[in-house]
Amino acid sequence: MAKQTQRLDKFLAATTDLTRSLAKKALHREEVKVNGEVVKNPAVQIGDQDEVTWLDQELQDVGLRYLLVHKPLGYECTTRSSHHPLVLDLLDLPSKHLIQTVGRLDVETSGLLLMTDDGQWLHKITSPRYQKDKVYWAELAEPLQEDAEKRVAEGLLLEGEDKPTQPATLERLTPTQVRLTVTEGRYHLVRRIFAALGNHVVRLHRESVAGIHLNTQELPAGAWRYLTEQEVHQAMQTPGN
Ligand code: URA
Repeated sequence: MAKQTQRLDKFLAATTDLTRSLAKKALHREEVKVNGEVVKNPAVQIGDQDEVTWLDQELQDVGLRYLLVHKPLGYECTTRSSHHPLVLDLLDLPSKHLIQTVGRLDVETSGLLLMTDDGQWLHKITSPRYQKDKVYWAELAEPLQEDAEKRVAEGLLLEGEDKPTQPATLERLTPTQVRLTVTEGRYHLVRRIFAALGNHVVRLHRESVAGIHLNTQELPAGAWRYLTEQEVHQAMQTPGN
């Protein structure tokens, strides 16, 4: 899934480990050639047919990437941490600095994490406007209360907030195991919903987002795969799914 044309400095940042500002410096030092000619202007447009070299190495545009990562427990979704390994460490890919997580999971949550360098797609999946379904499996400290499904479906007031949660769907699997489908992306939402019900989440795992499912048999914790084109398009188009 390649881009049509893009600025040269952006192309360099996408195909090397240079940032945009370091790419501009490399251009200024006359290290970059387009179709055999030195080019210093960072705004020059690069298309699919152009051959770009930096220090005489040909650069290949990796295109837009869409990944499904099985996030293990104990990993952080941020780009820097002194306490935990990063999900980015699981990826052996060029230009990793361009890849962002599509929403976040807590350190102590495992499961499906989407990652991409396509900012527009990321926005469509995470924006509250599109209300994409996110499905979680949770293990609770206490058996679920009788009226929990009804209260979750009606929306709950979370501690420290004045706007109730959007209606969500709760499925009781065993007295202490549940599946919860939410459409919002509030901070620690699932843990706080169960706290509002007087319970406590002891294990949390995300099974799907926007209709994209994690198959844990095919993809063990720490592994990842590219999304299929169909998954990329379906996730964007299907409302609330
Ligand atoms: N809700 C949580 O509480 N934690 C997550 O990681 C995701 C949703």
